[in-house]
Amino acid sequence: MARSGTIDNSQIWHDNDGNAIHAHGGGFLQEGDYYYWFGESRQGSKKVACYRSTDMEHWEFRNHVLSVDSAFQSVYYRTFSEMDPYGTIDKGYGSGSVIERPKVLHNAFTGKYVMWMHWENGRDYLDARCAVATCDTIDGDYDYHGSYNPIGQMSRDCTLFRDDDGTGYFISAARDNADLMIYRLSDDYLSIDEHVKTLWPGQYREAPALFKRGELYFLVTSACTGWYPNQGAYAYASSLTGKWSQLYDLGGPTTYDSQPAFVLTVQGIEHTTYLYVGDRWDPSNYSQSSYVFLPLEFSEDHIMSMDWQDIVTIDTDTGAVGGEYVDSGLYRIYCNGPDQYLAPDARHIAEVEGAVGATKLAYASEDLKWMLVDVGAGKVLIQHAESEGYLQPLGQSDSEGAAIVLAERVGHPSEEWECVTLDQCWCRFLNRHSGLALTISGEKGGKLVQSDRRSTYDTRRGFDSQLFLPAKVY
Ligand code: GAL
Repeated sequence: MARSGTIDNSQIWHDNDGNAIHAHGGGFLQEGDYYYWFGESRQGSKKVACYRSTDMEHWEFRNHVLSVDSAFQSVYYRTFSEMDPYGTIDKGYGSGSVIERPKVLHNAFTGKYVMWMHWENGRDYLDARCAVATCDTIDGDYDYHGSYNPIGQMSRDCTLFRDDDGTGYFISAARDNADLMIYRLSDDYLSIDEHVKTLWPGQYREAPALFKRGELYFLVTSACTGWYPNQGAYAYASSLTGKWSQLYDLGGPTTYDSQPAFVLTVQGIEHTTYLYVGDRWDPSNYSQSSYVFLPLEFSEDHIMSMDWQDIVTIDTDTGAVGGEYVDSGLYRIYCNGPDQYLAPDARHIAEVEGAVGATKLAYASEDLKWMLVDVGAGKVLIQHAESEGYLQPLGQSDSEGAAIVLAERVGHPSEEWECVTLDQCWCRFLNRHSGLALTISGEKGGKLVQSDRRSTYDTRRGFDSQLFLPAKVY
């Protein structure tokens, strides 16, 4: 059996039947030679899909293990039994209730496979409950056991972790995502035994992924920006319930356009490799969401880092992992004010001399890709990759409020922008001719102008229409 796989992080992945893999917010469980991948399916009434692979490249679809029609079986504590109370219609995220971030553990006492997940009613996002399901086989039809609020708490983004001694833990975001809780599970993994730790209270951490390396526990997590990527972070501790380190940045400012789903430990004969599994959510089209698998690296026992690799090769026999990085030279330019990305105005797509505005993130869109051409002395040309037009004020104007257009380069200073970097990643672009800053007019996006208004720099408040973040296209 081949055990060496190649993972292409820049593509949408397909299973062995050629269908796009829908296992978002997923988790993995190894059994025998296989890695089983469980994740959000959201295909109509199908909730959780399961795939398996021996090499991480070829994934065999096994089953929709949980759906709106799954059998309900009560457990020994009170739960809300209905999976889908409102029969919500499919708006592109599946029909009925919302099931997110399913994770599965095998329980040694009962022999059951136990799934924990986040449940919402499909109409709003306010119930914030966990839900539990079990099955006798890893990829069979799971019985649904209902949803509830653990110890009365809200429970949204979540994960499961099994410690070396077999104890199970459920980790989930509580208090409207402000706190991250660690709950120890009962011996059968069906209920919560005790709330054992609150991590980073008030810091709004989501997307937890917990794993152990040697004597240390690591938790990878994201900030709280919905399906838009943000700076991932990690922390470590020598005891789950003891003192945890502060959070340290992991990966680039958008975690290479991904949000943590899981950390997959590949225990080979020669090496143990830790693979970060991230979701690359597509906020404009959920079913176009994809995944990235990136090797985590460690220096000293507690310092972890992650670099971008377009291609990752892994040998699941030996545990050896390799990577290949091809710099595309392309950026998406995020605008802090309207929370959108720089793009030609929809009416002028790919037209030189087209107006420029801001739009929502869509990974597949070529409109959002730019090149920053260094012309020395801290100045750049901002070139739209597809149309090859350069960003400049209309008619080389130096007046405030002048519209920004894409035009051919004639070598005038108005085509050059000084990139003033603030706080490592945010920057202002000052026009070399006018000295005015590139600005989005209107908080909801729309037109790009130049202005000399200096807004207060406060990324936490989050609304500064002169702040831009060029993020590499990965
Ligand atoms: C993210 C969360 C995802 C999903 C999404 C919905 O913050 O991590 O699992 O809930 O929000 O907007």
